Amino acid sequence: MLRAKIIATGSYLPEHIVTNRDLEKIVDTTDDWITERTGIKERRIANDCQAASDLAYEASLSALKKAQLKPKDIDLIIVATISGDMPFPSTACLLQAKLGAKQAAAFDLGAACSGFIYGLHVANGLIRSGMHQRVLVVGTEVLSRFTDWDDRSTCILFGDGAGAAILEATREKRGIMSTHIYSDGNLADLIMLPGGGSRSCCSRESILKKLHHIKMKGNETFKVAVRTLEELASTTLEVNSIDPSQLSLLIPHQANLRIIQATARRLGLPMEKVFLNIEKYGNTSAASVPIALDEAAESCRLNDGDYVLLEAFGGGLTWASALLRW
Ligand code: UT7
Repeated sequence: MLRAKIIATGSYLPEHIVTNRDLEKIVDTTDDWITERTGIKERRIANDCQAASDLAYEASLSALKKAQLKPKDIDLIIVATISGDMPFPSTACLLQAKLGAKQAAAFDLGAACSGFIYGLHVANGLIRSGMHQRVLVVGTEVLSRFTDWDDRSTCILFGDGAGAAILEATREKRGIMSTHIYSDGNLADLIMLPGGGSRSCCSRESILKKLHHIKMKGNETFKVAVRTLEELASTTLEVNSIDPSQLSLLIPHQANLRIIQATARRLGLPMEKVFLNIEKYGNTSAASVPIALDEAAESCRLNDGDYVLLEAFGGGLTWASALLRW
C-alpha cells in the first residue's frame, strides 16, 4: 500500500523578539496576565523587508537541505497561509520562483491555523493516488502585519514564523497513517480578518473601521476549541485503533497553553508527551504545527516507529488532525 511519509522538516523564525514586558508599554496588559491566560512569554516579529514567502523560503531551504534534495526534485508546493505576500499571485508561486523549483505546481491553501494539517491531508491524498511523488508543504505567517496593536485581547497572542515538511511516497508501514479535516462556516465570525477581500476591499472607511486587522471573540473560540479538539484527538486515535497510552508525542497547534492542557487532560496524556513552544513564539497560525514538528525532530523527540498526533484548530472555523508513524 502506498503511503506518504515526511522525510524532512525545516523551520524559520525571525530574529526580532517582542516580550510580554515590551507589550506592557504598548497596551494595558501585564506579563503575569499574558503568561497565566495564554502561556506565551515572547513572540518573533518579521522585519519590514520580510513577507510570508521569505519566511517560507528559509524554512523550505532548511527542509530541502536535511532531505539532501534539490528544489527541482519537488513536484508540488502547497503553502498554507492567511498572511500571504499579496492576494495574487499565490505565495506558493512566489516561493516556487525563489526556490527555483521549476518542476513544481504551486498553490496556496487557506484554512487559518489548521492550514498546515489541511496541506498534509491534500498532499497525502495526491501521493497515495500516485498523482504526485514529492510534495513540499509549508505553513508561513506574518500575522504581525494584520495585528491591531491597540487591541490587548489579540495583539498579545500572535507571532511570525514558518515551518516546512517534505513528503514522499513510501511502501513502508509508516508515515501518515490518517488525516482528518473539518470545518464549520457558521462560526466564521469568531475569528476573522474582515477587510481586503471582495466584501470590504480597501477604502478609507475600511481602514478607519480597522477591518484589515484580526478580530477574535477569544472566550467563545476558546470554549469551542477545547470541546472540538478533544473529540478530534479521540476520533483520530480510534480510527487507527490506537490507545492514548501508545502515543509518543502530541504536537498541538500552539494557540493557548490552557487549551493544550485541557486536550491532554481529557486524553489522559501526561504533559511530558506534549510538545510545547508557545512560550517562545505565541500563536503563529498555519506555521505553528510545522515549526513544532521541526523542533521536535531536531530535539530527538521523534524516534523510529513512534506514533505522533498533530492537531490544530482555527479560523473558518476549521480543525484538523494527522496521525503519523515516524
Ligand atoms: O489560533 C486560533 C484559535 N485561537 C484560539 O484558540 C484562542 C482562544 N482564546 C484564548 O486564547 C483566550 O480566550 C484569550 C487568551 C484570547 C483571552 O483569555 P480569556 O480568559 O478568554 O479572557 P476573556 O476574553 O474572557 O477576558 C477576561 C478579562 C476581560 O476583562 P473584564 O471584562 O473581565 O474586565 C478582558 O478585557 O481579561 C481582559 N483582558 C486582558 N487583561 C489584561 C483581555 N486581554 C487582556 C490582556 N491583558 N492582554
